Amino acid sequence: MNIQLRNGKTIPVEMHKVRIVQKINLPPAKRRLEAMTEAGYNTFLLRTRDVFLDMLTDSGTNAMSDNQLAAMMIADDAYAGSESFFRLADTVRDILGFNYSIPVHQGRAAEHLLAKVFVKPGDVVLMNYHFTTTKAHFEIAGATVLEIYTDEAMNTSSTHPFRGNLDLRKFQECIDKYGAARIPFVRMEATTNLVGGQPFSLDNLRQVKQLAAAHNIPLVYDGSLISENAYFIKERDPSCAGMSIAEIIREMMSLVDLLYLSARKSTCVRGGLMATNSKDYYDRILAWLPLYEGFSTYGGMSIKEVEAMSVGLREMTDYHVASVSPEFIAYFVNRLLENGLPAVTPPGGLACHVDAKRFLPHLPQSQYPAGALAAAIYLASGVRSMERGSISMDRDAQGNDVPADLELARLAVPRRVYTLSQIEYAVDRLTWLYQHRELVGGLEFIEEPKVLRFFFGRLKALDGWGSKLVQAFEAEFGTAC
Ligand code: F0G
Repeated sequence: MNIQLRNGKTIPVEMHKVRIVQKINLPPAKRRLEAMTEAGYNTFLLRTRDVFLDMLTDSGTNAMSDNQLAAMMIADDAYAGSESFFRLADTVRDILGFNYSIPVHQGRAAEHLLAKVFVKPGDVVLMNYHFTTTKAHFEIAGATVLEIYTDEAMNTSSTHPFRGNLDLRKFQECIDKYGAARIPFVRMEATTNLVGGQPFSLDNLRQVKQLAAAHNIPLVYDGSLISENAYFIKERDPSCAGMSIAEIIREMMSLVDLLYLSARKSTCVRGGLMATNSKDYYDRILAWLPLYEGFSTYGGMSIKEVEAMSVGLREMTDYHVASVSPEFIAYFVNRLLENGLPAVTPPGGLACHVDAKRFLPHLPQSQYPAGALAAAIYLASGVRSMERGSISMDRDAQGNDVPADLELARLAVPRRVYTLSQIEYAVDRLTWLYQHRELVGGLEFIEEPKVLRFFFGRLKALDGWGSKLVQAFEAEFGTAC
């Protein structure tokens, strides 16, 4: 909850207490340089023993609640017919309004099934923006992914409240150009990940539904960050200020034909879910479930997590749960802005994003500024962020690099995990890095996988800039931290 202090400043105050803790380690800069080199300048390849604050992702890394952990103890471990699944299905009906629930092992499993059931070669899948695994699944199924975002989406210093909106004019143009028959669905991603965690408005969703329905195009909703998008709707659209998070979620879901989500985010577990009111969709997806995921009452998830997801779905409708990560992110972003750093605005969900093109204007996009920035942040702080730029784009069919629309370093804020003093530490070291930004150079691939290269690709620092940066750091802070 945001609390105003006597000096007029606002800080986010946790509406929970911490009962279980995990020790972490701050390796000194010299070790960070070794670790980064061993990891091929790819933060995915670091070991957590070398990481101080793990801001790689908010996926599967959130603090669970006491009630979620308690629920895991009553899990009904059965291959088929588990009571835990029926409790989940009841919760989905209650909170989301869908009669058919399909558990899957995580979000991309849902994307795989979506691709399998709905997408065929030559199709055009429309969306407000892609996510990495989403795009890969639909393209492997032979479709073209078209992102029909608004002009404001790519403005990283915007004040627009809903940069995740879908552009309705472009939607109409795509229907005219390709014909509705080639569009298996339109996909709306809550708190659009690669645009910097930016939400869409309830109004935009209503209009998307209206146009889609007029052409019999199903509306698919990626709800991995559903409660955060609901929070932004409540906070940023005055006409929704009086609605509860639960009401906004219900209203959104009333417009949706098929929901899928990674349960590793808003619901704070490890798993995934698909849900619909269409018996036809349900039957078509279910037919493939035992082959790829598991029986219908666990879908590849641990039953303990199924039980905890049910609790997580209810808890995410609590204002203090939905708001906890966005409020910390807003604080993080605003502190960076105060220090003159190019943090992406408005603050979104999932993470504090930093615009690497503006942070490192001396680097051409071909030298992967977002990857270089993520590596440099680690060297300067032990904080692990994630590259969300051209390294996260695979090469095209001709083998050319595809420059990403945005070059972002993403500092995820997992829910209820880090404290304000840890955020302040990150702000301080990022500010130091910004003051020494001319020391940061580019990256070059030394090992490059063909698909989703950002996971396992290895790179090197051009002209060995990593050591120069660490030398400058040690000159100021010594060799102990
Ligand atoms: N959709 C969105 C919007 C996501 O952010 C993710 C994952 C997925 C689908 C895939 O779900 O990981 O459970 O298979 N995002 C993670 C991230 C990986 O770090 O942003 P998954």
